[in-house]
Formats: sequence, structure tokens, C-alpha cells
Amino acid sequence: MRTQVAIIGAGPAGLLLGQLLSRQGVANVILERRSAQYVLGRVRAGVIETGTAGFIDETGAGARMHREGLVHDGIEIAFAGERHRIDFRALVGQGVIVYGQTEITRDLMDSRARSGAETLYEVDDVSLHDVAGTKPRVRYRKGGMEHEIQAEFIAGCDGSHGVSRQYIPAPLLRTFERQYPFGWLGVMVDRPPVAPELIYTRHERGFALCSMRSATRSRLYVQCSLEDRVSDWPDDRFYEELTRRLDGATAAKLEPGASIEKSLTPLRGFVAEPMRYGSLFLAGDAAHVVPPTGAKGLNLAASDVHYLREALVEYFRTGSRAGIEAYSSRALARVWKAERFSWWMTSTLHTFPAHSGFESRMQEAELTYLVGSQAARAALAENYVGLPY
Ligand code: FAD
Ligand code: DHB
Repeated sequence: MRTQVAIIGAGPAGLLLGQLLSRQGVANVILERRSAQYVLGRVRAGVIETGTAGFIDETGAGARMHREGLVHDGIEIAFAGERHRIDFRALVGQGVIVYGQTEITRDLMDSRARSGAETLYEVDDVSLHDVAGTKPRVRYRKGGMEHEIQAEFIAGCDGSHGVSRQYIPAPLLRTFERQYPFGWLGVMVDRPPVAPELIYTRHERGFALCSMRSATRSRLYVQCSLEDRVSDWPDDRFYEELTRRLDGATAAKLEPGASIEKSLTPLRGFVAEPMRYGSLFLAGDAAHVVPPTGAKGLNLAASDVHYLREALVEYFRTGSRAGIEAYSSRALARVWKAERFSWWMTSTLHTFPAHSGFESRMQEAELTYLVGSQAARAALAENYVGLPY
């Protein structure tokens, strides 16, 4: 099989890239290790920047997002028992859309199926060959048979545990990592949200986040220990702990219900540099991971894809390699800013086992300053809604 761009991974990065390229006449094939059902079963991000929504619109897959997604013009930050609203619309003239990653994935899969572009699910043993040169190949197994794709470029969109990154030679690859000493336990429940907007809460027992997927479905998180297992958190314990962390008025609105999904995510920041080697590009979690506080993971995947499709479309239309050469540095410039924002949100709102009273007072001072300063609120707002490309 021959194609122009072979894409590894059918997560948000791979599907969005595939659809943007197809729309602009660049042939591509997506290879995914899991089944489509499995990919759709993973509950992850929920907040979409305006820019990300614009790329989804460009693929023609945005109609349901605009119909069912919730436009939020701000968030609330709670600490010391009080809630404080950060008004994005007033501060920076933009909001965000609350719409699940699962739904975006479904919309992109449907639009890909309609366009007739090829996605191969349940492929095994994906390996990349000759990525240093201009005739890279991808080998894989499907249904017990070996297959090979000849491409002009390969896009590694295979997430943090994918294979693509390892094809950048070790002496050229630099990685930067921070592991946080805690995780998030997330619960999905068919109960109305406690408030119209997301509430990020700092509490001495640990961080809590009240998010949502719709007017009738809540997504709730509490900071937990890395040693914890999902089975340590039956619903009763989860609601009891969340109630203790929320301010009184919010806790009174909480309607416990049977969880329909529960998962645990360790928090970590990670960046691999560079994001291109020869004909191989990395995009999304394959190149970087952010701690979830601030909801940047999915949005960063979309921004990488934006730079990458510009580079590839320019190359296939004009023969210019300028965008290809600039891809890694352009993408990384935005990645590091999002890493910084996610690190700041995480550092300010969580309880750290090693912290002394001093650091705890610093967090309080940071938050008091934030809610009292228009400049500080605007800084949060412009990062949360998404920095320019
Ligand atoms: P992925 O979504 O990871 O997609 C990569 C795809 O590649 C997968 O479908 C995988 O099966 C496939 N793949 C992997 N290896 C291979 C291979 N060898 N061959 C073929 N295919 C392969 N972000 C937030 O903003 N908020 C959150 O609450 C949040 N929660 C998260 C919870 C978890 C458990 C995780 C892992 C991430 C979470 N994120 C969250 C981050 C966000 O979901 C990711 O940033 C986003 O999914 C990145 O998209 P991606 O397409 O780059 O990678
Ligand atoms: C959600 C996740 C986040 O990490 C975040 O900052 C906001 C919302 C969510 O899953 O709804």
C-alpha cells in the first residue's frame, strides 16, 4: 500500500490530522492498535479551546459539538471556603466549550467513515523503517498477516506509550519529566452539575474539581494518593471525601449517584525534543504530556496537528520544506507554554506531601493575589481559553 502520510494512532491527534489532511487533498492512512469501540470507551478530557473547536469545524465534524457542547465563559476557583469567578469573556473576550473527548473522537470517526479515508483498527506490531530518509515505511500485522505501507511522511500520534518516539535516535532525543506525588480519581455520574461552571477547589485535604459533560452528567475529580487503586474508592467514600473538600454551599448542591465510570490518573509533565526526525513527526501525547489541571492535553494535541498539517499541505502544494523544518520549534514553543500553565495550576491547587507551612501559605498568597488582581485573572484566562498559534 502507498500513501502520502501514514498516521500511527487514532486518538484525537491522529483523527484530527487525518481529517484535516483529507480535506486538503493529502492522502493518508491511520493505523490504530485498539478497536474503535475501545478508543471510544476511554473517558478523558472535557474542555475544548476555541482554536481546537475551529480545527474540528474545519474537518466538517463540528456540528454536534456546537449543538450539544456547553459554552462556558468562565471558571470558578475555590479556596478557604469561598468561590471566586474568573470571567474569561470579560477578561479576554473568549470562552471554552465543555464537550467530552469521547464525543469529539466519535464525531471525527464518523466524518472519516463518511469521507471514505482508511483507518485500520486492531493492527499489531507496528514498526517504522527508514524514517531518516524520504521513503519511510510502516510495517504491521493484521489478521495474522504482515503488511507494509510506503509513505512520504509518518505522523506518530500514538500517545505517551506509543512506539513512534523511540525511532528518534537516542543521542538526538532529549526528554524532560516531572512526576507529581499524587493522582486524580475521576468519577462520571448521571447527576446534574453542582454549578453552571467548573469549580477548581484547593483544600488542605487535597484538590477537587467539579466538571460536567452535560446538564445532566457530572465529571468529578479528587486528588488521591499514587498508592490508591480504583477499588479503594467505592462511591460512598468518594462523595464523602469530595463533600469535605468543597465549600458548604457547593457541597449542599452535590447529588451523589451511582458512578458510571471511575478511573485513576497519575499526574505527570513530560516533553520530548525534537518533535521531528527525518520523515517522522510526533504530535500530541506521543511528544508531551501535561498534568490535567487546566485541561490542556487534548488542546495541545490539536495545536501540534495544526502546525503539522500546515507544514505538510505547504509541502505537497508547493514543494517547500520550510514548514517541515520549522515544525518542531513552532510546536514546542506552544507546548512549553502549556506545560508551564498546567504546572502552575497543578502547583497552586494541590496538596504536596513534602510541603511545609511556608509553601502552603505561598499557595494561599498566590490565590489571594489571583482573585484580587485583574492582571493575574487575565493571565489565567488567556492561558485557559488557549494561547494564540
Ligand atoms: P491518545 O489519545 O493517547 O491517542 C493515541 C492513540 O494511539 C491511542 O488510540 C492508542 O491506542 C494508539 N496507539 C498507541 N500505541 C500504538 C501503536 N503501537 N500502534 C498503533 N496505535 C497505537 N486531558 C485533559 O485535558 N483532561 C483530562 O481530564 C484528561 N484525562 C486523561 C486521563 C488519562 C487516563 C489519560 C491517558 C489522558 C488524559 N488527558 C486528559 C489527556 C488527553 O486525553 C490527551 O492529551 C489526549 O488524549 C492526547 O491525544 P493523542 O491523540 O495525542 O493521544
Ligand atoms: C476536565 C478535566 C480537566 O483536566 C480539567 O482541567 C477540566 C475538566 C474534565 O474531564 O471535565
